[in-house]
Amino acid sequence: MAKDIDWGSLGFSYMQTDYRYVSNYKDGKWDDGVLTEDSNVVINESAGVLQYAQTCFEGLKAYRTIDNKVVCFRPDMNAKRMADSAKRLEMAVFPEDRFVDAVVKVVKANLDYVPPYGSGATLYLRPYMFGSNAVIGVKPATEFQFRIFATPVGPYFKGGVKPITLRVPDFDRAAPRGTGHVKAGLNYAMSLHAIVDAHNQGYSENMYLDSATRTKVEETGGANIIFVTKDNTVVTPKSSTILPSITRRSLMYVAEKYLGLKAEEREVYIDEIKDFKECALCGTAAVLSPVGKIVDHDKTYCLPSGMEKSGEITQKLYDTLTGIQMGRLDAPEGWIKVIA
Ligand code: PLP
Ligand code: COI
Repeated sequence: MAKDIDWGSLGFSYMQTDYRYVSNYKDGKWDDGVLTEDSNVVINESAGVLQYAQTCFEGLKAYRTIDNKVVCFRPDMNAKRMADSAKRLEMAVFPEDRFVDAVVKVVKANLDYVPPYGSGATLYLRPYMFGSNAVIGVKPATEFQFRIFATPVGPYFKGGVKPITLRVPDFDRAAPRGTGHVKAGLNYAMSLHAIVDAHNQGYSENMYLDSATRTKVEETGGANIIFVTKDNTVVTPKSSTILPSITRRSLMYVAEKYLGLKAEEREVYIDEIKDFKECALCGTAAVLSPVGKIVDHDKTYCLPSGMEKSGEITQKLYDTLTGIQMGRLDAPEGWIKVIA
């Protein structure tokens, strides 16, 4: 039976659910993994994650569809990206097929927390892993723990679909040849000061520039960015230092194949923003959140789509992507994993 939760008023915050998955890596191999009701993690005081931030994570969602199935969106892509993150951080790779299997197990064990169709909420899944044994010299752990928990969530940005304002911060997110392209916890730790500062100044998010030249648009702290040109081409920044968003890659496909639009992944210079008519943030948590204004110090870019509603193309992309996720539209082969 569905839990008695006011689904429509959920924001993006943690709510403890009944079961989570845990598997440990020791002596060169992963154990079988179990579901547990214990939400606490007990590790040594000198664990690799605590001393040297050896940790990476993923984020994906389970949806209840129009015909009352429970599905996940492209979990194989998260499995692959987590393997890439683990390799970059010298961690053991959790096998990709077992990742998908663990996602299925956690969703099935917490089915009562999958929000009803049409409620505006979804079940967010957070796979993560960390170095769990003691290290004190700077070196990788040799034991790791992989876990997945689930938590029901609503919109990432307060106010739901109202356009937000971004600012260009004086901080950088990712160094050339650093870890910006993987989902390392350290990328988020170093963004915390910048996001608190942005919020204190009334902005919803930071729009980071490339740290080598500070002339090109990268992404925000928790989402990739898309722009729409005046002739309806969807443009997204190409960079080796941003996270390869699964939502963004899916949207570019949707733009071309479902909406018949041109979609370009290319370098985007900050001074091109004045030529765009729409902007939005895309990601699992953000879905597709419209941006109305971007402030770069003494320059303010007001997107013609305004501060009241999504731009027309952004809205079409949103409707099509969420239509695929919620079963209202046919999905491309392999995008939807039916769980229950
Ligand atoms: N960029 C960053 C920095 C993120 O944290 C996320 C969230 O996962 C994304 C982009 C969006 O990626 P995805 O669409 O795979 O969720
Ligand atoms: C996600 O979209 O899943 C993320 O991990 C982004 C984070 C800011 C919540």
